Amino acid sequence: MHKVILDTDPGVDDTMAIAYALCHPEVQLLALTTVFGNTSVEFATRNAQYVLDCFGAVEVEVAKGAAIPSVQSPLPYADVVHGPDGLGTVYPLQPHALKAHAAYATVSNLDAADFIIDAARKAPGEITLVAVGPLTNIALALAREPKLPTLIRALVIMGGTVDEPGNVSPLAEANFLNDPHAADAVFAVDWPATVVGLDVTHDIMIGDSHLARLRDEAGVTGDLIWRSSRFYIDFYTQKGAAAAAVEKGSEPACAMHDAAAIAAVVMPDAFKTVAGAARVVAEGMATGQFAIDRTGYHYAMPHWQERPDTIACMAVDAARVRDDFLNTLITHKRH
Ligand code: BDR
Ligand code: CA
Repeated sequence: MHKVILDTDPGVDDTMAIAYALCHPEVQLLALTTVFGNTSVEFATRNAQYVLDCFGAVEVEVAKGAAIPSVQSPLPYADVVHGPDGLGTVYPLQPHALKAHAAYATVSNLDAADFIIDAARKAPGEITLVAVGPLTNIALALAREPKLPTLIRALVIMGGTVDEPGNVSPLAEANFLNDPHAADAVFAVDWPATVVGLDVTHDIMIGDSHLARLRDEAGVTGDLIWRSSRFYIDFYTQKGAAAAAVEKGSEPACAMHDAAAIAAVVMPDAFKTVAGAARVVAEGMATGQFAIDRTGYHYAMPHWQERPDTIACMAVDAARVRDDFLNTLITHKRH
């Protein structure tokens, strides 16, 4: 069983990751810690509560995290991708009828970084931290508790890209661009970290027919994923940014980035990985670029010496991941 804390900026594909984690029989979703990114941290926190309510999972705790990046000025939110509410314009609909009377999940008195530290100290070696937004909360938790890497079981990160073009600049992926200093700080320390970036997430496209199947067969998770994905899939099909990714499919389709991080937890053997020293460029025109030493040279260069190995996913059995996502939500349907 994987005890997961999901650090998230919901987010349409974040909602897919929340659903996948909640429905998967080998995952116990302990909490959502929120961060700015796709939207403000206020909206991200409200969306986290809303999604948990729709999914009938108000027992999952929520902890609010960082509102701005560690060092750089905030970038605009991803309204064009995730809608001005961050959830594909489904908010503020009433929570799903079946759960209309459920109380919203409680927001912790601890901020996200302290919540993560507290949970890791209480269950050393048990928690898998899955980070699918900017890495601000994770870097903050690390600064406050330098032993964090030894207190958790694993860290799985959706972010970055090695070979695939970026989605917010030719070099950068959104989560790393939103707080490159935090991302680089995370890769400076030795912990069991795996990066699930665009090299694999742009291969795992989910088509409209799959989304319709979720709507029809996957209960409350399918309902919200269908509704929130209308805006998101329109971005993927209409806007030039992701045209290359869409061409890989034969019908309107969108990437399920953050759900791929959950897949890397429950089916790591679906991914091909490399390991090496990793960095994120924090300033200049390449800001947000992720780089990993794939040569095994252990470059004797100032910026690269004494960096521990990070694992990065470079290839994936995309059909297997997508099918597991669909089957999990349908077979272990929440009503
Ligand atoms: C990542 O950026 C966000 O827009 C998505 O939720 C995902 O975490 C993809 O680059
Ligand atoms: Ca996200």
